[in-house]
Amino acid sequence: MSQSLEQFQKVYAESIKDPEKFWANIAGEEIQWFQKWKKVFSWDYPNYQWFVGGRLNITHNCLDRHISAGKGDTTALIYLNEKYKKKTISYRELLRQVNKFANGLKSLGVKKGDMVVLYMPLVIEQAVAMLGCARIGAVHSVVFAGFSANALRERIEDCAAKVVVTSTWTLRRGEKKELKSTVEEAIENLGFVRHVIVLQRDGEKFELIKEKEVDFKGLMEKQSGVCEPEEMDSEDVLFVLYTSGSTGKPKGIVHTVGGYSVYTHYTTKKVFDIREDDIFWCTADFGWITGHSYVLYGPLSNGVASVMVEGAPDYPAPDHWYKIIAQEKISVFYTSPTALRMLRKYGEANCKKHNFSSLRVLGTVGEPINPEVWLWYQKNIGADKLPIEDTWWQTETAGHMIVTLPGLRQKPGKAGKPFFGIDADVVDASGNRMPVNGKGFLVIRKPWPSALRDCLNNHERFEKYWNEIKGVYFSGDFAIKDEDGDIQVLGRSDDVMNVSGHRIGSAEIENALVSHPAVSEAAVIGKPDEIKGERIKAFLVLKPGNVASEDLLADVKYHVKREIASMAVPEEIECVASLPKTRSGKIMRRLLKAKELRQDVGDLSVLDK
Ligand code: WTA
Repeated sequence: MSQSLEQFQKVYAESIKDPEKFWANIAGEEIQWFQKWKKVFSWDYPNYQWFVGGRLNITHNCLDRHISAGKGDTTALIYLNEKYKKKTISYRELLRQVNKFANGLKSLGVKKGDMVVLYMPLVIEQAVAMLGCARIGAVHSVVFAGFSANALRERIEDCAAKVVVTSTWTLRRGEKKELKSTVEEAIENLGFVRHVIVLQRDGEKFELIKEKEVDFKGLMEKQSGVCEPEEMDSEDVLFVLYTSGSTGKPKGIVHTVGGYSVYTHYTTKKVFDIREDDIFWCTADFGWITGHSYVLYGPLSNGVASVMVEGAPDYPAPDHWYKIIAQEKISVFYTSPTALRMLRKYGEANCKKHNFSSLRVLGTVGEPINPEVWLWYQKNIGADKLPIEDTWWQTETAGHMIVTLPGLRQKPGKAGKPFFGIDADVVDASGNRMPVNGKGFLVIRKPWPSALRDCLNNHERFEKYWNEIKGVYFSGDFAIKDEDGDIQVLGRSDDVMNVSGHRIGSAEIENALVSHPAVSEAAVIGKPDEIKGERIKAFLVLKPGNVASEDLLADVKYHVKREIASMAVPEEIECVASLPKTRSGKIMRRLLKAKELRQDVGDLSVLDK
């Protein structure tokens, strides 16, 4: 199925000339609808809709239709943990469990449109919970289980969740990290949270708080394994996922059922050249968009087996992941540059111990990949020949936007070409196309099916995506486009950092820092890091009477961990007498960064001297 450049260009040109026709064909061929749409696309700038009037349910496409096609006994999910403990579940059994969970939600009074927050480990039950919500039209919002009680509370409050689903603990490097107690702290005095569904792991029995807490398995046991899928409107909300922006508050990115179903299904199929018997391993967690689109919905919609591994890449041994690739006969492997840089550090000898002959397609996502890491990946994991799909996309785009499909010439370090139907460009601040190889802003000229529809409780913020540069979607990334039209993404153009592939806003960390009693002002920058891509450095102005002692700085770090998450904790802290500011009082992070990296500090005319 891999294609020539001519074939690709022909289909791409058609898809751009008439995107409505292109997506209508795909939607009709690839997705089952309870009722066909009346209009493919409507655009009332900046708002848009896809497959207007169509009715469907994503769980029908991910589960029921495969069972009807005789694939009920095929493996849907494979779970593994650090001890190589394995659980698999077939499409038939997954549907039964999803239905039981969906009926359980109903029995708790959850209805279509209600918000359910998930704070769970990467286990099959989390997939059951997400699909269970989607089955009845409840809206899931998954919060990564590494976030603190404060960060979790902020999200639960913002979306006014009726139910929270959690687990007793999650496993990381041999240690159990408690989750239920974090939820207890997060929901204190939040009366609107009616229930907490608790997954008790490995037969452990925790004491449940009677009024609110419900046992996950106990809830399912009582229910029927049949639950008709809710007939959702194409534009009904499927999920909300919070992500960092340049303001201090995370944004709840809203995605709807129809466009998301079509786009994630089709990108999974084309980008990974999917085959029926694929064993598909995307190493992301459900807490991020990659977990939503390419661990759960995309692979299941395509009817393949999707692998999920709870734990760290290098625990209990540096070759843990290699062992999984060999033993599980993984055919598609999709991971992040950070993970690859870590694996590379452990050396090639680890790769040589394992047989990777099952692999067919490799991929990366989350950050720019250094050309030398790309080449290392292809040589040592990809038998010197496998395609590497460097996929550029975002929480807001929900699916791959820029990627060089298998079969086309790939350039290490360049994500490459826009996907079918995606009109991407590199422009200046006024929206004019940059000359070849000129650095500019990466934008998308028209809405695509899985584009974000809204920011929860903040439509203005949504509009900003399409107003920053009038008329186009502003990604917030810098990029350059070469003479062949291949795009290289350079990184963020705004005050958002990318630490180990995780997006985190400078302002969010600064807010946490200044909420420490000893801190008066704070500025945060990202510095290049060999493994993580970027690491965080904070500059602090302390309140009078405080001394920058080791103890104080350790306490400030602990405070950030409590406020947000470990991944947001600055690795370096420098205490300074003052921070550079513009005359209007805005902290000039750009200047701090340039000085720190000994780069040209650029235009200083706005600096308040
Ligand atoms: C960055 C993750 C370079 C980019 C799917 C983007 C990348 C942000 C790539 C979105 C890539 C993602 N090459 N940079 N292949 N993929 N990024 O929302 O800065 O967690 O804006 O979505 O990650 O991060 P998010």
